[in-house]
Amino acid sequence: MSYVFTEPLAGRVYLVTGGGSGIGASIASQLAQLGARVAVAGRRQDRLDQTVAHIAELGGQADAYPLDVRDPDQVTGTVAGIAEQSGRIDGLVNNAAGNFVCPAEDLSANGWRSVIDIVLNGTWNCTSAVGRHMINARRPGVILNVIATYAWTGHPGTVHSATAKAGVLTMTRTLAVEWARHGIRLNCIAPGPTSTAGAGAALWGTDEERERVLASVPMRRFADPDEIAGLAAFLMSDQASYVTGEVLTADGGQALGKQIYGPAVVPAPAENAP
Ligand code: HXC
Repeated sequence: MSYVFTEPLAGRVYLVTGGGSGIGASIASQLAQLGARVAVAGRRQDRLDQTVAHIAELGGQADAYPLDVRDPDQVTGTVAGIAEQSGRIDGLVNNAAGNFVCPAEDLSANGWRSVIDIVLNGTWNCTSAVGRHMINARRPGVILNVIATYAWTGHPGTVHSATAKAGVLTMTRTLAVEWARHGIRLNCIAPGPTSTAGAGAALWGTDEERERVLASVPMRRFADPDEIAGLAAFLMSDQASYVTGEVLTADGGQALGKQIYGPAVVPAPAENAP
């Protein structure tokens, strides 16, 4: 038996936040290559334009939407704009994120708020706006949230991001059950260390940190963003039509390796420890 299955997402309209660079740009490109029209949203117009131009070169369709996911009014306006311009919204990928490494005791109120606002509130702003649109339009839909395995383990140095990602995981599971009756599926992907400029600068800025991260990955390499995008495309497609409330991890075995071998480094007690 042979299949002709060239553009399984033809006719669909998907919104990808943080789509101007990194994993988001790869996801947007891969969805477009599968036939979807992609609304690429993010804070920087120049990056959005680059992604849209790249997708056009691949023969796909995409539109740029400047957006700060932290602003609920902007999000509502953008969702209405996409629905007007493209006629429908079938899916959302909440990929926009912010992160930096900082000991919890040094994290300022604004630093905490900034990451929680982008990751947790931003995901909620987009999910609630797109979910309402889907429910009102009486159409099925799919939502994918990009988290990290530290949503369930926690991770020293990134208490803001880990806390926000844990909230996103719980949001996903809650709405997967609550919105199943509206035909909306919600899932997460948990990428491990991925070779992007944003994550590199935020999380492994020096050679030493880079080596330490690599040493924690049994496959001994970073993920290519396209490997993560493939997983996203699967969950956004009808191939995953019975999958909801789940997390698919693609981390080269990192989380499992840490369980087996223990963490690479356990810090010594603080000098002034009681
Ligand atoms: C301590 C820091 C800091 C740092 C920022 N802050 N960087 N504190 N160490 N390295 C503090 C600032 O001092 C400020 O607090 C507050 O955070 C807000 O900073 P702003 O720069 O004003 O905020 P903003 O312009 O909104 O930028 C948000 C951001 C930024 C998160 C800080 O890094 C950003 O926009 N990042 C987006 C891209 C990104 O981070 N990508 C990586 C995602 S990787 P004060 O008190 O001084 O006002 C990822 C992967 C996870 O999430 C999984 C890995 C396995």
